Amino acid sequence: MDILGAQGRGAAMKKFLICGSGGREAAFASKLAEDARVYAVAGHENPAVVDCAVRTGGACEVGDPGDPASVVAFAKRHSVDYAFVNADQPLANGVVDALLEAGVRAVGATRAAARIEWDKVYAMGMMERVSPGSTPFHAVVRDEESVDGAVDEFRSRGMRIAVKPQGLTGGKGVRVMPEHLATYGDCAAYARELLKGRPGEQVLLVEGLGGAEFTVMGITDGEHLAMSPASYDYPYRLEGDRGPGTGGMGCFTEASGLLPFLSRADMEACRSIMQGIIDDMRAAGNRFSGVLNGGFFRTAAGLRFMEFNARFGDPECLNVMSVMEGSFSELLASLWDGTLSGSGARFAGRASVTKYLVAKEYPEASERAVPFSVDEGAVAAAGVEAIPASCVRLGEGRYETIRKSRVMAFGAVADTVEAASGMVDGAIDAHVRGDLEYRRDIGSAANLERLREAAGGGAGAPMPP
Ligand code: GLY
Repeated sequence: MDILGAQGRGAAMKKFLICGSGGREAAFASKLAEDARVYAVAGHENPAVVDCAVRTGGACEVGDPGDPASVVAFAKRHSVDYAFVNADQPLANGVVDALLEAGVRAVGATRAAARIEWDKVYAMGMMERVSPGSTPFHAVVRDEESVDGAVDEFRSRGMRIAVKPQGLTGGKGVRVMPEHLATYGDCAAYARELLKGRPGEQVLLVEGLGGAEFTVMGITDGEHLAMSPASYDYPYRLEGDRGPGTGGMGCFTEASGLLPFLSRADMEACRSIMQGIIDDMRAAGNRFSGVLNGGFFRTAAGLRFMEFNARFGDPECLNVMSVMEGSFSELLASLWDGTLSGSGARFAGRASVTKYLVAKEYPEASERAVPFSVDEGAVAAAGVEAIPASCVRLGEGRYETIRKSRVMAFGAVADTVEAASGMVDGAIDAHVRGDLEYRRDIGSAANLERLREAAGGGAGAPMPP
């Protein structure tokens, strides 16, 4: 059943469909709602997505945003003007292809173009073609018998290993040495576990890189590329970058659009690599529009590629949306029209920080829903934005988690990262009640100093046995 906005509201505004119900989609909905009608196929009633749909006279259906047939049916039922598909599973499932076939103006990668995200082996091959000097040493393992030989290649080179499943894992399948895999034997065992009973599956072993990891997201119409500020995501669950990998506990961007360890020349090198990837796709006849998200490492020896996503990251997107100037709906329309200019996306010269509140068990699912409350007026008065993700509203300022994933993000924009980080901490500590956790160290002065040192030295942890 669709949740509908008031009849006749915003009739002249364009109708934009989004797919998903995370914090990222809540950020899209809020930005689109400035001058467009919001339509959504959402996995659950994300309070911000529902509010934006209702407020703008749009509609929200609780359904599977990864199911092409459902998304097309919803788009047709509401005669949407544009669809923006930006989540990994819908892209991998061919939601864009189905919308295009149905005559809907869909912005986002087709299934073939999104392979750059859903097949890490394919992405590494493409990177090797476009920028071999930035491609780390790697090996593709196709069966259990080949695992030990491949691991020995790294051992003999004195390299640590990152073990990566070939397909989508929601950021939770990659394990690295020494944080998750203490020894080469542990790497081999994990690679075998990933291959076991999965014929046709491949595992990617990649040189463990020292230095600092970061994300650069480019907005593209398939030909032109407009860069958003570089972002630094915190994938580990616990402070000090300890604990299991997650979808991302928080993120910062700097006023300069660079990072504490990233120069303008580095940023230009990333842009050039990403333009090369887009040109390569276009030459291969792959329709790519929307967002190309490049994951890189800044090492002492220079830039190294890690992976691509065919979408905005989450939480990275929350930061980018918080400093984006101008109309997001017009930007998306320009991606469809193929009229994006290099300056088509504009960003305020300010720093941003977002932090996710999560249940104690995260990234494991919780057994029970966790109730929590937010004094939303006080949070807003503190200059902080609350962005709901995996939670539903129970009443005014009262919520409960939906037992998995990240619960609610808090974001601030300020002159410096440290100031924005302090604003977020202050708002959460004073105005949120509930048995939830977040990382205070995201964007702290001590953390930023550590990042500068890590990228300068690049030595990383000592070699394992
Ligand atoms: N923050 C990582 C991702 O969106 O994949």
